Amino acid sequence: MEQRREEAEARVAAYGQEHLLRFYDELSGDSRRQLLDQVLQLDLERIRSIWEQASVKKEEDAFAAAGISPIPAYAWDELSDREKQRYTEAGWRLLREGKAGAIVVAGGQGSRLGYDGPKGTYDIGLPSCKSFFQLQAERLINLTERAGQAIPWYIMTSPANHDETVRFFEQANYFGLRSADCFFFTQGVMPALDAEGKILLAAKDQISLVPSGNGDCFAALRRSGALVDMKRRGLTWLYYYNVDNALVKVADPLFLGMAASHSHPAAAKAAEKSGPEEQVGVLCMKSGRPAVVEYTVIPETMKHATDRQGKLLYGLGNLSMQAFRLDFIEKFAEAELPYAMAHKRISFIDPTGRLVIPEQPNAFKFERFIFDFFSLADNITVLKVKREEEFAPVKNKEGEDSPETARRLVFDLHRKWLLAAGVPAELIGDRPIEISPLDSYSGEGLTDDVVRKLLQQ
Ligand code: UD1
Repeated sequence: MEQRREEAEARVAAYGQEHLLRFYDELSGDSRRQLLDQVLQLDLERIRSIWEQASVKKEEDAFAAAGISPIPAYAWDELSDREKQRYTEAGWRLLREGKAGAIVVAGGQGSRLGYDGPKGTYDIGLPSCKSFFQLQAERLINLTERAGQAIPWYIMTSPANHDETVRFFEQANYFGLRSADCFFFTQGVMPALDAEGKILLAAKDQISLVPSGNGDCFAALRRSGALVDMKRRGLTWLYYYNVDNALVKVADPLFLGMAASHSHPAAAKAAEKSGPEEQVGVLCMKSGRPAVVEYTVIPETMKHATDRQGKLLYGLGNLSMQAFRLDFIEKFAEAELPYAMAHKRISFIDPTGRLVIPEQPNAFKFERFIFDFFSLADNITVLKVKREEEFAPVKNKEGEDSPETARRLVFDLHRKWLLAAGVPAELIGDRPIEISPLDSYSGEGLTDDVVRKLLQQ
């Protein structure tokens, strides 16, 4: 152990991170071992270079409007019936032939929601009490049964929530899916740094490590063997989405069919922003390549720019529902995407050994964003959809994008489905309507039996 200690001391000294071993002498044997393991695993050269680059990138982001232009998009509603039919058939063919999988990024910390567990286990308060994971699993079951073919589901966790996530699935018997079709894999982490670029300690024997962004998912797919699994199954397209959208159409055949009918290696769903301030990224072209300008860095001028009709010029909100061709993922899994730096509140151990829980942002975390892969594609297919049919994000405890707004969106959409199926409004009354994804994926399948059962509840 003495030799490892000396090695660790030399390394941290070379990068001005000596404070990481400040409490070493007070620690027990196990704690010493743990800390040395962590320190020796750090790639301090890489961390320094990311810190320097991210500082530069932040300045560049202030000028993100440079070289930006709108991106062309298809609107589902404006497609001809023939086109709709062609894309729908192409999507179902992918599902029937077992060529499509789904990936959910569920490694985030969900800190804005103030929920401690993995966000996918969160229950937004629907009458069924279903968690995000259950809603998503049941949508997959619905499609699986209709396609007659399993749709493998790749679930990205983080070291902090992996075990709890897996346990949640086990206890629920995978919500009726085959466990062999649920592939859990863990994303990477990055140390959190203070304003001087010093790595924070989360405890005397522990470095503060935080998930390194959803852009790590392709590299994590490769590291974990998930890519090999996909190839073995013969997948060609992967449907990517955020864990926290109560209306997400997991593995949406129409979208997959549309993506696969174009020659581009990636596709993104978008919806008109509800207003300039909505907290969604914006799809656009940047220096001639497809891109998303994230809401955290979008310049005011770009946010408010309008066309002659007064419509937002950059109003295509990124819904975080995307499709990627497998050969594209494989080719760029190890691409050195830039890291974005975010100023956050992160607890740490101060020089006196006290745990500090800051009330203001005190530290920087580093994240890679999935949409930065778009710029590696010649172009992407953008499909504009109706937000009320598939976007109910849950980001905050209260107010906008909260469990309450998401519940309302579910009830409104499912009521619309019933009305469209011919159920008289008087019969529905003003009760909240929640339709199980096992009965209907997007409004189809509402037979008399299903409706009767629903209205009896
Ligand atoms: C995200 C999009 C934003 C989009 C919005 C739609 C990114 C970077 N931004 O913003 O453009 O308009 O959704 O709702 O994607 N995650 C991980 N590991 C991490 C960090 C995040 O798996 O290290 C997962 C989260 O669990 C979540 C998803 O990525 O499922 C989005 O993360 P979040 O930080 O909530 O992004 P938003 O700010 O909502």
